[in-house]
Amino acid sequence: MDKNLKIIDDLVERGWSETVDFIPSILVERILEEQQHFLKEGEFKTAGVGKGENFQIRKDIRGDQVMWLNVENLSDVQQQYWQAVDALRQQLNQELYLNLKGFEAHYTQYPAGAFYKRHIDQFKQVQHRIISCILYLNPEWKKDDGGQLRIYNQENGTETFTDVYPDAGKFVCFMSDSIEHEVLPTKRRRNSITGWIRR
Ligand code: OGA
Ligand code: MN
Repeated sequence: MDKNLKIIDDLVERGWSETVDFIPSILVERILEEQQHFLKEGEFKTAGVGKGENFQIRKDIRGDQVMWLNVENLSDVQQQYWQAVDALRQQLNQELYLNLKGFEAHYTQYPAGAFYKRHIDQFKQVQHRIISCILYLNPEWKKDDGGQLRIYNQENGTETFTDVYPDAGKFVCFMSDSIEHEVLPTKRRRNSITGWIRR
């Protein structure tokens, strides 16, 4: 089955999906290189919680650092990633009669010790985030490094969870308004691109 159709099937079935060959591994490496360059340049800022007036830095809730990408001015590798997500977005529109209009994303790094407590991605006041998409960039991740994404599943009133390790090239997406998830404390720096397909 086409990889985007498989993703769409998973989203419909259980609200989330995991793919290992979303983009070529050479592109994953180049994105990591670019991200490391911007990290050195000091372009990342500590992420917060809440929007507008409610924005706060709360390291007891999340400890990641982000660099927003400018859709008007994407680098070559960013553009290639955008194209892959755009193909998925268009197929989502076709298959599920959605009206998804665009994609917004930031580069993300969790320093050693950082985590992100359980949450959903849709803000109460701002509901344009429909599908959360994360591409992980970390070569040779070991279970012992921690930093797993824990996705909670509700089935017939019982809660279970699935842990996803942030291995280089792994692409995870899920419904932003309903899938509860968290990032467990990482022992190693953890890099990714985090984005949202929007209405
Ligand atoms: C987020 C988030 C998960 C991850 O940025 O909202 O939940 O695995 N990220 O990085
Ligand atoms: Mn999240």
